[in-house]
Amino acid sequence: YEPWRDAASDHGVTMGFALSPQHLSIDGYRQVAEREFDLVVAENAMKWDATEPSRGAFSWGQADQVAAFAESIDADLYGHTLVWHSQLPGWVESISDPVELRTVMHDHIDAVAGRYAGQVDAWDVVNELWEGDGSRRQSVFQRVLGDGYVAEALTRARQAAPDADLCLNDYSTDAINAKSTAMYELVADLIDDGVPIDCVGFQSHLIVGQVPSSFQQNLQRFADLGVDVRITELDIRMNVPASAADLQRQAADYRAVVEACLAVDRCTGVTVWGIDDGHSWVPDVFSGQGAALPWDAQYQPKPAYSAVAEALGAE
Ligand code: G3I
Repeated sequence: YEPWRDAASDHGVTMGFALSPQHLSIDGYRQVAEREFDLVVAENAMKWDATEPSRGAFSWGQADQVAAFAESIDADLYGHTLVWHSQLPGWVESISDPVELRTVMHDHIDAVAGRYAGQVDAWDVVNELWEGDGSRRQSVFQRVLGDGYVAEALTRARQAAPDADLCLNDYSTDAINAKSTAMYELVADLIDDGVPIDCVGFQSHLIVGQVPSSFQQNLQRFADLGVDVRITELDIRMNVPASAADLQRQAADYRAVVEACLAVDRCTGVTVWGIDDGHSWVPDVFSGQGAALPWDAQYQPKPAYSAVAEALGAE
């Protein structure tokens, strides 16, 4: 097949992957990265613990490597993430004074979004803000600043990076359910209030055989609010070792996700959360599961790779 990125561009969408720059020294990893993708997001390198491990002391090494790699392959650069409860240093976690936390959040956004202003095309400004029942996750930002922290972060990010699209991103929001409906209502309110919001990301950490039937309809309802949508962290896990039948089911699932995006005008594309099964967060977190990505641990394309190529109409 022709590269995913070439086939995708005929549809006006981009194909992304989450990059861990230390893996670029592996030939197989780098070759797939260079050939297939036209959007790069840092798997970890732009998170708070990586960029501002102690207050006001920034470290840009890995984040700069991600930005440089994106530029070297003429890919979009996607920013992940400015405000998130996880991979958040303890010194932020322990702040209880709202004035102090607001200053710290603003300073972080100014520094990180500001550094990559003009390079990052879109930012996950706030990541994972909801509980499954549609209530707000009780992160330090929520507890100390209240509901308004989301609008504050978006507004600050607009000032720091005026040309970047500003997104909210979450998991288990792929179907129409309580959590995605909470996100939907928030986005509608933010738009009504004139808060800058351009896009919503759907992580799509899925389980084989469980692509939600309402996926496309869900993407469409957000698009109808006037924001872009994107599949931001796609992987589809299964029990390992995987059977040939599992890999075929996974291929059908990957195809269904890409088709859902292509069916929605404002879907900007699909990002996979890694490249190969040898470097995936899944086995570390879900014991006994894995094989979630389109390439195996030897960088050989799996049936999911071909299914995506075919969904994109690759020649
Ligand atoms: O860098 C250290 C290393 O020095 C240390 O020796 C090693 C031992 O545990 O840990 C390394 O850090 C790990 C880091 O990944 C880099 O590999 C952390 O422990 C580990 O927790 C971290 O996991 C990341 C996870 O986010 C953290 O929440 C995964 O790589 C990353 O794929 C995952 O990505 C998230 C998205 O950001 C948000 N959505 C869900 C998604 C999957 O959890």
